[in-house]
Amino acid sequence: MYKAPRGTVDILPAEQAYWAHVQQRAAEVCRLYGYERIDTPAFEDYDLFARRDAAGTDLVEKEMYVFEDRSGQKLTLRAENTAPVCRAYVEHGMFSLPQPVRLYYLGATFRYERPQAGRYRQHHQFGCEALGDPSPGLDVEVIELALGFLSSLGLQQLTVVLNSIGCRQCQPEYVKVLQRHYEALSGEVCADCRVRMVRNPLRLLDCKEPACRLIADAAPRISDYLCPECETHFREVQEQLRVLGIPFTLNHKLVRGLDYYTRTVFEILPQREGGQSAIVGGGRYDGLIEQIGGKSTPGVGFATGIERIVLNLKEQQLGVPALPAPRIYLAHMGDSARLAAAVLARSLRSAGFGVVASTGGKSLKAQLRQANALGARHTVILGDDEVQRGVVTVRDMTLNEQVTVPQDGLAAYFSSR
Ligand code: HAM
Repeated sequence: MYKAPRGTVDILPAEQAYWAHVQQRAAEVCRLYGYERIDTPAFEDYDLFARRDAAGTDLVEKEMYVFEDRSGQKLTLRAENTAPVCRAYVEHGMFSLPQPVRLYYLGATFRYERPQAGRYRQHHQFGCEALGDPSPGLDVEVIELALGFLSSLGLQQLTVVLNSIGCRQCQPEYVKVLQRHYEALSGEVCADCRVRMVRNPLRLLDCKEPACRLIADAAPRISDYLCPECETHFREVQEQLRVLGIPFTLNHKLVRGLDYYTRTVFEILPQREGGQSAIVGGGRYDGLIEQIGGKSTPGVGFATGIERIVLNLKEQQLGVPALPAPRIYLAHMGDSARLAAAVLARSLRSAGFGVVASTGGKSLKAQLRQANALGARHTVILGDDEVQRGVVTVRDMTLNEQVTVPQDGLAAYFSSR
């Protein structure tokens, strides 16, 4: 028996109301803030993700789905969406549009991770990227947008966690200080952290091992090493958040797993905290577009996993509007009715009515049972006798009442109801 690959799930019809609602809210909040939709391919050149600066990140070293196509080109299933959006920005010359260019996306994202609740090998991200403007106000805009989106779904008690990890000028100085702090304690850290000390020192700060956590708590803080420009930027972000009444918590250990961040980084955590609890992750990435071959261009954005949002909606017992059930079920009895029903279904659909047509030679009782199970509001019954008389029987499934309606007046009858 085949099963969906490990770490992937089928989104069955019963789940679709959640997905439709979340995606519709995402589109609506983006409209309010002027973000336009972009869709990038599900796979990209391997090098777009495996940039020199990204070496040593889990994403590149452990999580990407990498393959060669039949021409020998090395490709990667999209492991995140920021780099693809930046690639599209450069490729399509969006730097000549009024800046910032505000974009959003909804799409499948692939990471070879250890599956668990809220962590999959294929997940779906909604994310926003604002490109071409260095203002701290834009960092605040994307945080506010992400929060507005989550609150519009009814999610409450969200915590915004904020940090600044400096820029290409001040971060290296801090990294040296951090490495020195860890060198003295290298016998006490986990094996992964010993590798991080050399390959990805900032990630030392968010190791989950209890012994490493204590060391990270006592580590020098990057806020003490920010250059004046980064310090001003970070202060302005905080001031604007306060003015807007957006509560946040500073956490000097928040560094994020991707390589490209500069200055502001943030996450949004839901009510219940757990290992995989961040529902939103984002930040500023002022060097990324240059890294992938464009002119030096600032950027800031966030992404959120729709699976994690749906999980939280269910945990908090937050309902979503049901998807519309088919309004009309078309039942038929007898050979000539079967053919006439197909014609009638087509004319009702072209008048804009959703029609589920019965198939096969089921009894009328079985057809009515099916209409009920599907939640149809009306069942149109067509027998050979009705075909001859040019009428149908319309049964109201809620009131259990029946009326006879001329076939050529059926669309008008439903329009009037
Ligand atoms: P990220 O933190 O790797 O950031 O992912 C963003 C969000 O995607 C997470 O907060 C989580 O909700 C969801 N997510 C990530 N991995 C998984 C997974 N394996 N299963 C289920 N959900 C997952 C980024 O991807 C950045 N590109 C965000 C960004 C945009 N930064 C700036 N702009």
